[in-house]
This record gives sequence, structure tokens and C-alpha cells, in this order.
Amino acid sequence: MPEKFYITTPIYYPSAKLHIGHAYCTVATDTIARYKRLQGYDVMFLTGTDEHGQKIEDKAKEAGVTPQQYVDNIVEGEKGVLDLWKLMNISYDRFIRTTDDYHVASIQKIFKAMYDKGDIYKGKYVGKYCKPCESFWTESQLVDGKCPDCGGEVQDAEEEAYFFRLSKYASRVQDLLENTDFLEPRSRVNEMVNNFIKPGLEDLCVSRTSFTWGVPVDFDPGHVVYVWIDALFNYMTALGYQNDKYNDLDTFWPANVHIIGKEIVRFHTIIWPAMLMSLDLPLPKKVFGHGWLLLDGGKMSKSKGNVVDPYLLSEKFGVDALRFFLMRTFPFGSDGNFSNELLIQTINIDLANDLGNLVSRTVSMVEKYFEAGTLPTRQTGDPEKDGELEALGAALREKYREAMDHYAPHRALEEVFKLIQRANKYIDENAPWALAKDMDQNGPRLARVMYDLLEAIRLSAILLTPFMPETCGKIFDQIGAQEPCRTWESAGKWGLLPAGACVKRGENLFPRIDAEKELAELEALSAAAKKAALPDLEIEPLAQEQVDFDTFCKSDFRAVKVKACENVKKSDKLLKFTLDDGTGTDRQILSGIAKWYKPEELVGKTLVAIVNLPPRKMMGQESQGMLISAVHTEKGEEKLNLLMVDDAIPAGAKLC
Ligand code: ME8
Ligand code: MG
Repeated sequence: MPEKFYITTPIYYPSAKLHIGHAYCTVATDTIARYKRLQGYDVMFLTGTDEHGQKIEDKAKEAGVTPQQYVDNIVEGEKGVLDLWKLMNISYDRFIRTTDDYHVASIQKIFKAMYDKGDIYKGKYVGKYCKPCESFWTESQLVDGKCPDCGGEVQDAEEEAYFFRLSKYASRVQDLLENTDFLEPRSRVNEMVNNFIKPGLEDLCVSRTSFTWGVPVDFDPGHVVYVWIDALFNYMTALGYQNDKYNDLDTFWPANVHIIGKEIVRFHTIIWPAMLMSLDLPLPKKVFGHGWLLLDGGKMSKSKGNVVDPYLLSEKFGVDALRFFLMRTFPFGSDGNFSNELLIQTINIDLANDLGNLVSRTVSMVEKYFEAGTLPTRQTGDPEKDGELEALGAALREKYREAMDHYAPHRALEEVFKLIQRANKYIDENAPWALAKDMDQNGPRLARVMYDLLEAIRLSAILLTPFMPETCGKIFDQIGAQEPCRTWESAGKWGLLPAGACVKRGENLFPRIDAEKELAELEALSAAAKKAALPDLEIEPLAQEQVDFDTFCKSDFRAVKVKACENVKKSDKLLKFTLDDGTGTDRQILSGIAKWYKPEELVGKTLVAIVNLPPRKMMGQESQGMLISAVHTEKGEEKLNLLMVDDAIPAGAKLC
């Protein structure tokens, strides 16, 4: 019986379309799941969506649909969560939605069970609530009065509520964190213990009455279960805990690992184990808290318009290239700065130059030098010339395993690329094209060189399969590696490719990207997205400071008629007005509104000017006062409208 391995991603909030940060988390989990399957484990890979809570209720209201319609669209609709995982080739075995009937019923039983045990009790909640994070905070947990997670505004909250006796489990949780490998990277342990446990773990508010989009507490109508209880237990209800929908609990619980982002480590390593302890359930073996993909140095957020669209990038560069980039570039436990430059650079260097070239050069040489691209038996080598490559290849799988088992996919890839780079160097050192000039003399040597190159490719492709499943299948086809030579087992040994393997050149796996062209396109798209995220209309807040009446009355506003208007030479901002102010003498005013008006369309209009400002020089011309405009901002762009009044008002009329 193969060993079992249960791995999960967080369940995602379908409050907006997912971005590359979400894909990062899911691709990483998928890569590990595929790695375990490659090793022969019986894997259960769970993902899903976390669909309840006030945020979703609010979003649905805004969109004028029911919460269920809202989440259905983001989960199942076009370019929704399911579409995205299909596109990204995510090999999940099960998908849970917290609105699934069986889950809702299970959560009600779980809540009741903790209540019956006395670990959930009724009390009164007084504190603060952060809506976007769906988190309650006590005053002392706030940072500068703001949510300690997102830094956003919190609101007062006071209501009758149920509480979970989190405090009761404080010392057991602390022990779990400090004295076991439950939480990794270990660097996150101190933060949990010092920030949350040592200051005194308070009981957790686990029901709400101020909204209805959640799992109802069945024995107390009006209360809905706190979204994080609902969410965390997905890992077990999806296996059949407290329901008959599935029957996999004995097989797969406890989970081997929950992969999650760093901002939800607190929920997974304090609240989650405490609730499991309350129900006497086995704890997951590990929680791994990965870092964030940052953009422009900050967290991606829809409201900043700085989210990166995985659809767009996959379409442009290919799904496997994108998957590879995410795992290759950023150490999994730390934050990383996403940039299009880095993405393109990684594809061009690692994939096009190193891997792509190795495959295409090797395959075309074998085709050219050996009849029908068929490889002869591996010939005796020369330890001086061949030893290093072979040694690297033979040791690779164990190094890779060590890295993958420590949730360091970036290090595993580093090892694979050492072999790929060494193989490219081996081509140059052995110059097969020179050997091929005298086949009688050098035939056996050439056969050995080509064999070892194919072997380096074969081993690399096996170990790259969890990262780039599609592409590696194509590589195996090109080098003529059949099924028995594609296994984990066979990656541990150099020299397994059988004689007679037949190579077959195929498509160019990783075409080089024209960096300049693609960057310009991506730049333009992201500028447009940022603009679209700006508010439609912004107006300046009203002045708080009062002005006394006499001071106000000193400003002399007059109706003025435009006699002539022209652009000011060498200025794209200024228009020069000749105005009738009722005095019989023309008044000249310069105004910075050329962006919004053509001079000719203003002639004859009645405008408003303040006429007792001291005259001043602009672009060498005198301006005697100022024309009054209305100012506002649309999509980040300032708009000016000259104040135009009824033409029946005579020039010089005083405004007061
Ligand atoms: O937190 N970089 O859902 P979620 C890396 N429903 N990871 C990122 C990221 C970024 N820029 N943005 C988001 C939730 N993520 C809860 C989970 S589990 C019982 C309930 C990751 O949709 C984030 O760190 O807000 C988290 O692990 C996952 O996406 C889901 O985030
Ligand atoms: Mg989140």
C-alpha cells in the first residue's frame, strides 16, 4: 500500500478575481503534490473557496446580486477560480466550497460539539473588527489604532456573541509551536509566541449577528458562525468529518501539510490546533507559511490596481514558464518582488538559453550524427572528461529530495540547473561537431558524449516534471525516453536510457522573448489597469478653517466678458484673455486652462474674475487678476471648468 500524503492550499476568498499571488500559493502546493505523486505517494490535494462572511455580503450588495450569485460567478464563471486552476494545470484531487451543503451541515455539528463540551460559551463582545480581514481585535492588539494584519481602519463592535475558550489551550499551543516542527519556517514561531500567546491569549469571538451570509448557528437563530471556524474546518469536512459525503478521514487525516501565506499563520497555528485539541482530534503534522509576492514593494491589492493577471502572463509566456518562474525565483518562505523584467529574464536565461538550448542542440546532433536518430549503446567513458557530469547527475536526486522535503522548491531547481549548466559546458568541452568529422576514429567517443547529454536531460526532465508537467512530457518525447525512464526510481541512477532510444526533434520549447517589446506592452497594460482602479470622481474636501466675513469681502469678484483670447507663445498651459470688466479699459488675464479650452470657443463668454489680486508676470506678460474655475479629479486626472455665468449679466457686475 502506498503511503498517504494529504496536502492543502488555503481556500480562497472569491471576493474578487484571483491574481498572481494566489496562483503562487496554489502552484507551489501543486508542485509539492506532484512531487509526492512522482515519489509514489497516494496524494490527496485539496483546494477550494471560502465563500462566507461580511466582505462577500457587502460585495454582492454592491454588485446588485445575491451573495450566492456573486460567489458562483467568481468561482465557476468565466476566468473564475476553477478556470484559473485548469489553466495553471493545478492537479487538485478535491475542491471544496464552504457553501456546499455537506460542509454547512458539518460546521453546524462541529460548532455544537464544541458548545456541548463547554469550549464555546455565550458572552458579550466588545472590541474592534476589521472587515477586510474578517478579524476581531482587542484594543491592545491594534497597531496605532489600526488592524495589525492589514493596517486598515477597524470599527467598534459590541454584540451578544459566542466565544471559543482559546485561552484554555494557550500553553499547549505554545508547546506545540516551540517544541515541535509544527510551524515552518521556524522563523515565524517567535512572532506567534511573542505577539499573540505571551501577551495572554484571549477567548475568541466565534459568532456574529450583524450580517447573515454565513453558516447559521442552528441552536440560536440570528447568529452565524465566525468565518474562520467555517473556513479552517474545510480541511476535515472535505474528507468526510461530520458528514457522509466523503469517507476519507481515516485515510488522510491528519494532514501532512497545510501550505498557507504568512498573514494567516496565526489562524492556522494558534486557533486551528486549539479547536482540534478541543475536539480531541489529531493535529496536522505541519503548517508551512510562505511569503508574499510583492509588487512595487507592497502587497498586491485589487484596490491599488496593482494586481498581476495570471491569465495574461500565461497567454503571453506559457503556463509552464510562469509556473517555473514562480518557483525558481523566490525563496518559498520569504517575500519576493514580482516584476515583468524578472519574469522575462528568467525565461530567457534558464529556459530558453540553458534548458531549451541543451535539449535542442543535443537532439539535433543525435539526429544528425546517428542514423534515424537512434542512439548506440553507451560506450566506455573517460573519467577525466565524463566523470564530473555523471557524478553531478548521479547525486542530483538526493539533493533535490532534501530541498523538496524542506519546502524549498527554489533550492531543488537550483540543483537541477547546476546539472543543466554543466551539460551545456560539456557540449562545448567535447565539441561533438568536431568528433563527427571522423566517425571511424571518433564514433564511440561521440556516442558516449551524446549518451551522457541525453541522460542529463532525462534526469533533469524527471525532476522538473512537478514544476512543468506539460513541457517535461515533450522533452521525454524528444529524447526518446519511454515510461520506465521517466520515473522517480529511474532518476536516481545515471545510465538507464536504453540503447536504441530514438530521438525526435520537436517544437522549440522555449522561444526567446523579445524583452523590450513585451515589457512595453505589459507596461501599457498595467498603466491602464492602475488608471481604471482610480476613483471616477474626486473632489477636494471642504475647508475646515473658517475665514472671517471682512476678509472674505476684501476679494473683489466681477463678471467679465471675453473680448479676445489666444494661446500664449511657448506655453502649452496658458491662454491670454482680453476682458471687458465694465471699466471701459481692457483687462488682461492669463489663465492656465489651455489644456481644456480652445481660445476661439471662449470669445463672447461671460466669466468670473477676481480683480484685486496684485498683478503678476507670467511668461513675460502681465496678468491682472485671476479667472475662477471649478476643479475636480476624474480617474486621477485634474479637470478645470471655467465658471461661466448668464450672458445677461453685464460686464463689471460685482459678485457678492
Ligand atoms: O486568506 N503573495 O483567502 P485569500 C503570496 N480565505 N500569496 C498570496 C498573495 C500574494 N501577493 N495574495 C494572496 C484567505 N496570497 C482565507 C484562507 S484557509 C482556511 C482560509 C495567498 O484568498 C494568501 O497568503 O485572502 C493565502 O495563503 C491565499 O493566497 C488565500 O488568500
Ligand atoms: Mg487574505
